[in-house]
Amino acid sequence: MLITFEGIDGCGKSSQAKLLADRLRDMQVETILVREPGGTDLSENIRTIVLDGKINSPIAPAAELLLFAASRAQLVKEVIEPALKRNAVVICDRFTDSTIAYQGYGRGLPLAYIRTINDLATGGIVPDLTFLIDVPLELAINRRKGMGDDRMEAESRIFFNHVMQGYMALAQKHPDRFHVIDGADSMEDIHHVIYRLVEYERGNDLRHAHHTNGAIAGVPATELFAYSFDVTSATMVADTEALAS
Ligand code: TYD
Repeated sequence: MLITFEGIDGCGKSSQAKLLADRLRDMQVETILVREPGGTDLSENIRTIVLDGKINSPIAPAAELLLFAASRAQLVKEVIEPALKRNAVVICDRFTDSTIAYQGYGRGLPLAYIRTINDLATGGIVPDLTFLIDVPLELAINRRKGMGDDRMEAESRIFFNHVMQGYMALAQKHPDRFHVIDGADSMEDIHHVIYRLVEYERGNDLRHAHHTNGAIAGVPATELFAYSFDVTSATMVADTEALAS
């Protein structure tokens, strides 16, 4: 399962990604936590180029897009794809939606190109769950104060307003996988909401695997129920009963 965290810089998504990874690992779930750009040797090198602001001349928007895409292509091939094949949970701090929001809505590059480039970089992998941590721009800026802005964070308020519009458009377009979370709530409350949604999704995944294969990756069917205990929805209960009989 691929879970992505999105939002503007300073929204708190990285802390939430880490809290979720720790929680899943505590439950003995194989969990990979990566950030974009980064996560492989090549990708971390690209991160330095694209974020540390030491390139002498301004990076052209199309070059920026392709650098983020190159970083992602390597991360997918080297880390994400193999982990998903092993049925690990992959948590990605930013993914393809960042490119649509920042390079598409922020920089104004054509969305059709970005979608094609995203598809090339991911090989068609789409997140199962995306948490968009929504905070007012002023709160995000305040949280970042004193941390030293990288090249992207030094962008204008207008830029970030466009990025936020992009995220909202994405959330509307993909309500099946997007969850917009109020980032002004406490860290614990946000984590609680996210964790419940992840467990619900994992329950669905495992139930689906049970219906089609009878078992998933060697997990006996009885153990699959462990993931649905927390869930109170009527369909889940009905399905659990059907499986038990
Ligand atoms: P991130 O590491 O999340 O920075 P922070 O920890 O400060 O939130 O992201 C790095 C920056 O790169 C962030 O400003 C967003 C930007 N970015 C893009 O513009 N396009 C992309 O495709 C990705 C993945 C990130």
